Amino acid sequence: MEYSHHMIVRQEHLNQYGNLFGGRVLAVIDELAFIACARTWPGRNFVTRAVQDAEFTAPAHLGDVLEFRFGVQTVGNTSVTVRVKMLICDSHTGAASRSFDGAVVMVCVDDEGRPMSIQQ
Ligand SMILES: CC(C)(COP(=O)(O)OP(=O)(O)OC[C@H]1O[C@@H](n2cnc3c(N)ncnc32)[C@H](O)[C@@H]1OP(=O)(O)O)[C@@H](O)C(=O)NCCC(=O)NCCS
Repeated sequence: MEYSHHMIVRQEHLNQYGNLFGGRVLAVIDELAFIACARTWPGRNFVTRAVQDAEFTAPAHLGDVLEFRFGVQTVGNTSVTVRVKMLICDSHTGAASRSFDGAVVMVCVDDEGRPMSIQQ
């Protein structure tokens, strides 16, 4: 993975069960996918087309440190697939365990919002 991002789970990120709200994770990975595209192809516009294979495998809790590892996985004509993994870092041991894995498909668009070739 080319990039990483860290965040701490705060009160405002929790659902009614006291776990990290999945929608918050989806918002973060959407932004990270855009960042991966913007860093790789500066000056281009990208919008989100799809989220694929999104799997929540272990809950995160208040105070957990989260590490997101992400990067461009595949490049098509107009689309880019960005893989994102989220790990929970144990604050005592430093060990990281898997919590989320998924991919975001971004599409390069022109000024009118129409798909355009990334290599153009
Ligand atoms: C993104 C958008 C411009 C693409 O237009 P479109 O007519 O759907 O484009 P296409 O069907 O030609 O697909 C464009 C690319 O996405 C890929 N794609 C489309 N649907 C996909 C899906 N469900 N999963 C994976 N890839 C997909 C196509 O294979 C194509 O890739 P390629 O050019 O690399 O081969 C249009 O769908 C759109 O405006 N969507 C809303 C975007 C939005 O508001 N996002 C949220 C805020 S950023």
